Amino acid sequence: MSFKKLYIETFGCQMNFSDSEIVVSIMNDTGYEVTGKVQEADIIFINTCSVRENAEQRVWNKLRELKSLKKKNPGLRIGILGCMAERLKKKMFEEEAVDLIAGPDSYRSLPGLISATLQGQKAVNVLLSTQETYAEIDPVRYDSNGVTAFISVMRGCEKFCAYCVVPFTRGRERSRDPATIIDEAGKLFEKGYREVTLLGQNVNSYKWVTENGSVNFAGLLEMVAMVNPGLRIRFATSHPMDLSDELLKTMSGHNNICKSIHLPVQSGSSRILELMNRNYTREWYMARIEAIRKFMPDCTISTDIIAGFCSETEEDHRQTLSLMEWVGYNYAFMFKYSERSNTIAARKYRDDIPDEVKGKRLHEIIDKQRKLSYASNKKDVGKTFEVLVEGFSRKSKHHLSGRNTHNKVIVFPGKDYKPGDYVHVKVTDCTSATLIGEAVE
Ligand code: 5AD
Ligand code: SF4
Repeated sequence: MSFKKLYIETFGCQMNFSDSEIVVSIMNDTGYEVTGKVQEADIIFINTCSVRENAEQRVWNKLRELKSLKKKNPGLRIGILGCMAERLKKKMFEEEAVDLIAGPDSYRSLPGLISATLQGQKAVNVLLSTQETYAEIDPVRYDSNGVTAFISVMRGCEKFCAYCVVPFTRGRERSRDPATIIDEAGKLFEKGYREVTLLGQNVNSYKWVTENGSVNFAGLLEMVAMVNPGLRIRFATSHPMDLSDELLKTMSGHNNICKSIHLPVQSGSSRILELMNRNYTREWYMARIEAIRKFMPDCTISTDIIAGFCSETEEDHRQTLSLMEWVGYNYAFMFKYSERSNTIAARKYRDDIPDEVKGKRLHEIIDKQRKLSYASNKKDVGKTFEVLVEGFSRKSKHHLSGRNTHNKVIVFPGKDYKPGDYVHVKVTDCTSATLIGEAVE
């Protein structure tokens, strides 16, 4: 059988990248293989993100670019997948260049949708499901380093943070059968992968219930850790409300569960947290950080922060900066608040912080984080870590790059190692983004 060509571009979060791997698997079964060359594509998919206005803007720009390709090649089909498909189906439908629209839960219907577009129709399926987890679909790791992989363990979110579109674009929470997760992890190890990241919008609310009992996220993590001691496990993302002591204990009990936690705080002000509907206060969050430190003193902590949420004062902002300092995050994703229509915040509050003020606060947050990252890295100079090699460093073919258990990137010279090797590396220097070292063995 000769394969037709699929070009796929993904915007947004790790979940979206993981979804694209599922899409490629479904497309392989439909007679399409991935190409890296957009010019030779028979079909182009854009897997989209709606989380912030500028994420959506990038997709609109991309579409404009693709329109000219379609003029040259009228047989080309263009599909919009993911969160924007869900959120903006009407507007997308009016776009001349778009032939196909499929939401995050409708990827199994892609073969049928494609047939319809080949007959000249526009095809849409954005139905959300309460059950779809794509559990038994074997994702195609089409853009992989062969060492690290994502495994999606649950989908959807029901937290309804006031600023967030995800509960609307990705629907209800549902968990995937643990047997299929263990199976996927085992197969990845056999193929040479040495690290898996268990993914979900809120992995800590993972729950699989059968007549014989139930498995929560701590239980799942333990099961995956037992697949092979040589397989590292990470997970993302955790909501602070659901980060249990049981989970921390499980993490501390297994060497191959990486000692780093991504724990989005969003704001350091209890008043703003309440408006955000985060269901915790600054003090409560600090107590969770103390719990992490108690179970795993050397665990690194990263976070997400939003600058300039509705009604945020200078004092609220200062509380964010002081909480960052108190935690000493080793890494952060930092954003300006971006109002999304239909979210709770868009319906209830005014987006009243001027863009310059949001920008200034974001700048201060980024500046603070750069200093914290540098301080955190500086403490590692002189220490030796086990590094899982992922490939060559971006800057030099003579340097390898990998990460330690703390999710810090370490670059070191070496010809004798290959991706997938574990190497002991002594840190000799650092920047705010990278540790620099030498192999010691
Ligand atoms: N504006 C800005 N940032 C947002 N995030 C989610 N929604 C918004 C929004 N409307 C950020 C949060 C979340 C991360 C994935 O994106 O920090 O944790
Ligand atoms: Fe973007 Fe959120 Fe959708 Fe991920 S779930 S693609 S971050 S809107």
